[in-house]
Amino acid sequence: MKLTVLYGTETGNSKGLAQKVAAKGAKNGVEVDVIDLATYSVDQLAELDHPTLVIISTWDEGLPPPKCVDFVNALKSRAEPLSNLRYSVLALGDTEYTLFCECGKQVDAKLAELGAECLLSRTDLGADFMVSYIGWSKNFWKTLAKVYGVAA
Ligand SMILES: Cc1cc2nc3c(=O)[nH]c(=O)nc-3n(C[C@H](O)[C@H](O)[C@H](O)COP(=O)(O)O)c2cc1C
Repeated sequence: MKLTVLYGTETGNSKGLAQKVAAKGAKNGVEVDVIDLATYSVDQLAELDHPTLVIISTWDEGLPPPKCVDFVNALKSRAEPLSNLRYSVLALGDTEYTLFCECGKQVDAKLAELGAECLLSRTDLGADFMVSYIGWSKNFWKTLAKVYGVAA
């Protein structure tokens, strides 16, 4: 099985978690593609036919990381369905901000609106993301084990 992990980051936290997912995937015999959303298009997303994890942070009062603004805007303005996509969103943010994990929330809502199938409900991680990631990771791999029969 193959897993694509798309990350959107400004200071590298989301990228770091994407790399942790890839390391776990290698242990579990899953091929993982780790890709920066700064260089990715929604048309490429539409072509994916294997499970996809989006890890994205929120910046500047609810906005995407600056380098991912184009991707998120293109996604938001898309009307064509993404019905082949099976996805999960891991949102990064900080509860000190009113619009906590807003970008991840919007990406998740839009993917659902376009008919993509959610594999595991979105999880929002705050400033303690290095610790709270561990619980999320257990759930994520349990879900992949159940749906795709991979090791957990
Ligand atoms: C200037 C600034 C603005 C931020 N704005 C928000 C925000 O509106 N909502 C939120 O949940 N987190 C916000 N954050 C927190 C980041 O999302 C958090 O630090 C995250 O771990 C960054 O991940 P990244 O390194 O992958 O970009 C902000 C952080 C900074 C420094």
